[in-house]
Amino acid sequence: MLSPQGRVVMVSGANRGIGLAIARCLHAKGYNLSLGARRLAELQRTVDELDRERVLCHALEAADAISVKTWVDATIQRFGRLDGLVNNAGIVRSATILDEDETALDELWKVNVKGPLRLTRLAMPHLKASGSGRIVNIASLSGKRVRNDQVGYAMSKFAVVALTHATRRLGWDSGVRATVVCPSFVATDMSAHANSTFGRQNMTQPDDLAEMVATVIALPNNAAVAELLVNCRYEEMV
Ligand SMILES: NC(=O)c1ccc[n+]([C@@H]2O[C@H](COP(=O)([O-])OP(=O)(O)OC[C@H]3O[C@@H](n4cnc5c(N)ncnc54)[C@H](OP(=O)(O)O)[C@@H]3O)[C@@H](O)[C@H]2O)c1
Repeated sequence: MLSPQGRVVMVSGANRGIGLAIARCLHAKGYNLSLGARRLAELQRTVDELDRERVLCHALEAADAISVKTWVDATIQRFGRLDGLVNNAGIVRSATILDEDETALDELWKVNVKGPLRLTRLAMPHLKASGSGRIVNIASLSGKRVRNDQVGYAMSKFAVVALTHATRRLGWDSGVRATVVCPSFVATDMSAHANSTFGRQNMTQPDDLAEMVATVIALPNNAAVAELLVNCRYEEMV
């Protein structure tokens, strides 16, 4: 496994839910972190217990190209290098095939797909320079199969899976490894109203997902994991 010491990882949407769990987990393992969130003051309060010597908190609006670039630039300015990017920030909106209003569809595309795409583009030169750069994209099992009418969310997450495989191709020869994580229900705000008959204690816990992310970031270049499909209940996967 790669040592976390001196390595720098960016995590988007680090103020709550899965992103916060990933930030805490990576911090505990000794990484330097650049954490992005829409509300900077709230992020700073939330991660107050983390070692400020190793943590940069920065404003991030994932749908905004300038904001994304400002975050990457600030990370390089602070730490001088980048070894990992976790594209976690994401939204769920209702968008079905029959909806004529495409506002939600456009928002899903901007936040869930163009945000990670732009961050990947901007981070890639630094990750290549690392020699063992890592990108972890948090997609969803909704990016692997379609089980409800929410085609907008599913399309955005299928796109994140495609982005991850394209990233693997682009970065492979320079030691960059990309992994897409596809969970079903995770016990966060996002799933709070998703499935009332399925208890939250039965959903995948954010801390367990964070350990998986930490593992794929730490695996050496010759042990690359392309996809992690994570279920909290039985479903046929082949
Ligand atoms: N929970 C699940 O069941 C589940 C299952 C599969 C996949 N996922 C995926 O896991 C990821 C994390 O979700 P979660 O469960 O932790 O959800 P969450 O608790 O709703 O947190 C979402 C995070 O994304 C951030 N975010 C949303 N839009 C943003 C934007 N435009 N710019 C910057 N940050 C933004 C949020 O920031 P604010 O606090 O500012 O809103 C928050 O930090 C998402 O990509 C989601 O699609 C979740």
